[in-house]
This record gives sequence, C-alpha cells and structure tokens, in this order.
Amino acid sequence: MQQEIANFVFYNPVKIVFGKNRIPELASLIPDGKKVLITYGGGSVKRFGTLDRVKEALKDFEYGEFGGIEANPTYETCIEAVEKIKAEGYDYLLAVGGGSVIDGTKFIAAAAEFDGNPIDIFGKGLGKGLAIEKALPFGTVLTLPATSSEMNETSVISFKEKSAKVSFSHPAVFPQFSILEPELTYTLPKRQLANGVSDAFIHIIEQYLTYPVGGMVQDRFAESLLQILIEIGPDVVDEDNHDYNLRANFMWTATIALNRLLSKGVPGDWATHSLGHQITVLNSTDHARSLTAVLPALMHVRRKEKHDKLIQYAERVWGITEGTDEEKINAAISRTTDFFHSLDMPVSLREVGVDESDIDQLVSQLERHETDRIGEDGVQTLETSREIYLTALTNDFL
Ligand code: NZQ
Ligand code: ZN
Repeated sequence: MQQEIANFVFYNPVKIVFGKNRIPELASLIPDGKKVLITYGGGSVKRFGTLDRVKEALKDFEYGEFGGIEANPTYETCIEAVEKIKAEGYDYLLAVGGGSVIDGTKFIAAAAEFDGNPIDIFGKGLGKGLAIEKALPFGTVLTLPATSSEMNETSVISFKEKSAKVSFSHPAVFPQFSILEPELTYTLPKRQLANGVSDAFIHIIEQYLTYPVGGMVQDRFAESLLQILIEIGPDVVDEDNHDYNLRANFMWTATIALNRLLSKGVPGDWATHSLGHQITVLNSTDHARSLTAVLPALMHVRRKEKHDKLIQYAERVWGITEGTDEEKINAAISRTTDFFHSLDMPVSLREVGVDESDIDQLVSQLERHETDRIGEDGVQTLETSREIYLTALTNDFL
C-alpha cells in the first residue's frame, strides 16, 4: 500500500479553446494544407447546425465526412473510417461530438497509422495489447461535457461480436486541440445532461475515494470539483435553463475531472467503471447510468478499505460531522444516492434492467476482459465484484 505521494510525470499537451463562438478559429488551429476527415455521431451535429458551422470554418481546406459513430463507439464502425482514410488519403481528423465520437476518432487515428491488425491495439482478451507508436493528428469540437475525452489520451471501444468494452491509452492520441463552446450544450436533453454530471462526478470519485496518501492538492481539487457538481447539478439537468455561466462551469468541471490532474501521485480505483462497462455490454445501458447503478453498492461493500477516505468525503464534501464513523459513512452513501436520484439517475441494477440471472454473465465478462483483481492495489477480486453486483440489485443496506 502506497504511503506517500508517488513520483509522477504530468504531461497534457491539449490546447483548450473555450468560450463563445470559437468554431471559426478551426481554420487557424488546423495546419494549412491538411486534408481533413470530419467525424461525427448519429446526426445531432447536423440537426443543430454545428456541422454547418464547422464546414464554414473549413471552407479553405479539402475535407470529407464520416458520420454514424455510435454512442459506445464500435470497433466495426471505426474500421470503416480507417478504410475511408486509406482510400481517400486524409491526414488530419476532426471529431465533432461527445465522448463516443472523440473516443472513436482516437482509435481511428491510431488504427490508420498502425502496422498490423488494429485489434492488437487492445489487450484484455481481444488482441496482443501492443503499444501504438503513432497516430494521425486530430482536434475536437466537444458537444457533450462528460468524459473528458477532449483532454485526455484514453479511448473506450465496444466490440459487437466479442461482447466487450475495452480501453487503450497512449500519448499519441491526445487531441491537438479541443474547442469547448458551452452554448453547444443547450441542445442536450435532460438525460444526457444528467449523464454528463454523473460521469464527471464518478471520474472524480474513482481518483479520490481510495485511501489517503497526503495528496493535498489532489484531494482538495477533487473535493471542490465534487462540490461544484453537487451545487450546479440540479440546475444543469434543467434542459431549458440556458444560463451561460452554469453551462460553462459544468463544461470546464467535466473536462478537468479526467484530464489526469487529479490522479497524479495518488492511488486510483476505476472498479466502478470496470463493473459498469459490463452492464453496457450486456444491455446497452448508457455509460453514466451503468456507473450510478453500481457506485452506492461499491461504497458499501468496500467500506473497510475505503474507510478513511469515506470519512474525509463525508466530512469535507457533504459536511457530515455528527455521529460515529459508520454513521458518517452511511450518511455519505445516502447523500450520494440522493444526489443521483435528484438527477433522475438510477442507483440500483434493477433500475437499469439487470436482474439476478444476469450476474454470472457480468462476472464472466469481467473475468475475460479485465484483470481478475481491479480497484486500488488490485484489492477487488472477482468474488468482491460479484458481491457488489448482488448488493446493487436492490441496495437493501440503504
Ligand atoms: O450521436 P449523436 O446524434 O451526436 O447524439 C449524441 C448521443 O446520442 C447525443 N449528443 C451529443 N452531443 C449533443 C447530443 N445531443 C444533443 N445536443 C448535443 N450537443 O448524446 C448522445 C450520447 O453521446 P455520447 O458521445 O455517447 O456520450 P458521452 O459523451 O457520455 O460518451 C460516452 C462514451 O465515452 C466513454 C464511455 O464509455 C462511452 O463509450 N468514456 C470515455 C472516457 C475517456 N475517453 O476518457 C472515460 C469515460 O469514463 C467513458 O468511459
Ligand atoms: Zn466514465
């Protein structure tokens, strides 16, 4: 177990271009002479005019389009984009969308430059897990604050045929720049706003709720970002509330939540994500909903090893100072659950359509595509994961 802040390197080269009407600056952000492939999702960027604004900004560039990247982007769809790039000779990518489009574009950028079968970019029971050496350069225009994919080097890809959802990370897939216009969030429906608040919240929790190593910067940053989400979350999910600063604070919080600032030198958990991904593979539950359905049970089942940080979380984030340690922890879990409920997010497996007969399947996917010990210092065994899933069916402990 780590006793103090570990050695670290912090490197994040993503240029953030934040604010109102920044899309016209694409022309100066993308190097002259590049042949650009614009990538996007199921059509929201067409419906709401963002794609037209992007095309207007790129009018002096040669460009093409690749649409249809799904929520939870699939390997199969991304490979079609790689074939288009090879056939038509693009040398720059521009992702316009949420985390799925950006993650898909990261994989496309890596696969287009990969010698060999792109499945080998992934390990975890899929391919050889070879490190990539290079990727096509790309930028992003973010339309959904949630994942921080716009400012990190991770991509999460789903595999239709292999029932898997697996990530890879490499500095070659940091975006060169990301445009963050808070006003692009005005077209998001409540469900996606709630997903965004919750995903960002849980990214912070994954990097914070482990055990203390004296990382004051990491802890206080994490606690303040959690408090911002608790403060603004209920207003953010009001899809008709187009207060600019509200959405600007939401967008920037979600970006900072997983740009790696919070995780440097301190232990990370990520078991909620590992368990959540299996639910999405099982029945296509939205990413964030798969996480809120699992987290309360995980906090409860692993309360011994997370004891000190749970108390710190209770006291500093929720202001719970009365009662015994166990009462404080119970109250912190309840407050977290109430917070998700207030956003209309599920907090149990039943609410995301999972019942007891699915648990074997979830655990076996986990075994195939993750290591058998996950969480901080690998403390979470498959048996513990099963217990968390079982507890999350009903959350009777609440
Ligand atoms: O596909 P379109 O038509 O564009 O619609 C999308 C999609 O249906 C819609 N949407 C996006 N921007 C919109 C909008 N609708 C109206 N107005 C807008 N401005 O929202 C839907 C969901 O989009 P998606 O990109 O799937 O959501 P999100 O950003 O939550 O991304 C989820 C994916 O990111 C991965 C998840 O696993 C999941 O696959 N993650 C990536 C991470 C990373 N790269 O570091 C970390 C995360 O933990 C997460 O795992
Ligand atoms: Zn997430």
